[in-house]
Amino acid sequence: MIERIAELRGQAEAEIAAAGSAEALQELRVRYLGRKAELPQMLRGVARLAPELRGAVGKAANQARQALDALIEQRSSQLGGEELHERLRADRVDVTLPGAPAQPVGRLHLLTTMRRELEDIFLGLGFTVMEGPEIESVHYNFDALNHSPTHPARARTDTFYIARPDLLAPSEPRPGQPPSPLAAEELVLRTHTSPMQVRAMEAHPPPLYVVIPGRVYRPDSDATHTPQFHQIEGLAVDEDITLADLKGTLLMFARAVFGDRRDVRLRPHFFPFTEPSVEVDVSCFHCAGSGFLRDGARCPLCKGEGWLEVLGAGEVDPNVYSHVPTSEANAPGYDPEKVQGFAWGMGVERIAMLKHGVPDLRLYYENDLRFLEQF
Ligand code: DAH
Repeated sequence: MIERIAELRGQAEAEIAAAGSAEALQELRVRYLGRKAELPQMLRGVARLAPELRGAVGKAANQARQALDALIEQRSSQLGGEELHERLRADRVDVTLPGAPAQPVGRLHLLTTMRRELEDIFLGLGFTVMEGPEIESVHYNFDALNHSPTHPARARTDTFYIARPDLLAPSEPRPGQPPSPLAAEELVLRTHTSPMQVRAMEAHPPPLYVVIPGRVYRPDSDATHTPQFHQIEGLAVDEDITLADLKGTLLMFARAVFGDRRDVRLRPHFFPFTEPSVEVDVSCFHCAGSGFLRDGARCPLCKGEGWLEVLGAGEVDPNVYSHVPTSEANAPGYDPEKVQGFAWGMGVERIAMLKHGVPDLRLYYENDLRFLEQF
C-alpha cells in the first residue's frame, strides 16, 4: 500500500509539473485529490486497516496529499503569472510612440502669424493689446463714432444686424426689474474694430496707447472682400499729439513689415470719427517706389503708382470724446481741451496679401494645405 501511495504521488507530481493551464491543473486536482480519487479513499480506509499498518499508511497518504496540494497551489500561481505576463505582452501598445507614419506638426495660419507680427511691432512702440466684443451695439459701432444718422454704412445691406427676439416682440419689463437699457438698442456684428476706441477710453484714463486686433463682419464676398475679416485698430491719446506722431508711428510699422527703405505718405480722406482723416500709403516694395521694374515693365503690385494703400487713419475727432462719460475707471476723463489723439485701422488680410503676394482673399479661408503650407 505504501508503495502504491509512492507511485501515485510520483505520477501526480510529474503531471502537475507538466500542466500547461489552470484548467488542466483543476482536472489533476479532481483526479488525484477529489472525493472519489484513490488517495483520499485510502485515507478514509485507514481506520479499517490492521492496527500495525495504520500509522505508516496514514502518515504516507497524508504526506502525499499535503505535498500534492502544495504543488498544485505552487504550479497554479506560477501559471497565473505566466498567463498575466503573456496577456501584458500581447496588449502592449506604447501610446507615447509617434503614429506611423509620423504626422507632421501643424503650423499657425498666415493670418495668425501676421496678426502676431503686427501686435509685436506696436508692443515694441509702447502700445498695449486689448480685445473687444464682435457682437456690438449700434451705439459703439456707429453713434459714438460720430456717424450721421443717414451714414451709408448703417444700411441693412452694408451691415449684419442681429435679430433680437426682445425687439421683434417687445415685452413688458418683468415686475420688479428695470427695463434693460439695451432693449431699446439694436445689435450688429461689428463692421470694424473702431468701436473699441470708445470702450478703451471708458475703461482707462489718458494717456492711452492701445492696439485692438479682432474679427469684423460685412456682407461682401468677392476676390477682395470676405464677409468676415480681421482688422487691427490703433489708438493713442495723450497731451500734444499731432499728425506727425501718427506719421512717425506708421513709418515704423511700414519699415518693420515691408523693409527698412520704405516711406509713407498721407492722403486727405474722410472718416466720421477722425478730423483730419487720411489714407496711408506705403512706398511699393516690389519696384522700390518707382512704379516700374528693372526691365521697364509696369510694376504689377502697385500698378505703376509706386505706392500701396494700407490703411485709414486720422486725428481723433473731438466729438468722439464727448461720447466717453467720465467715470471712476477713467477719471479725470477725456477733455478735448486737454488731450488729443490719433487712430488708425488696418486690415490684416490686406497687409498679408501685399507682403506675401496673396492674389485672392478667399484663399485665407479655404483651408487648402497647398496654400497654407507656404507660410
Ligand atoms: N474703421 C475704418 C474702416 O473700417 C478704418 C479706420 C479709419 C480706423 C480711420 C480708424 C481711423 O481708427 O482713424 O474702414
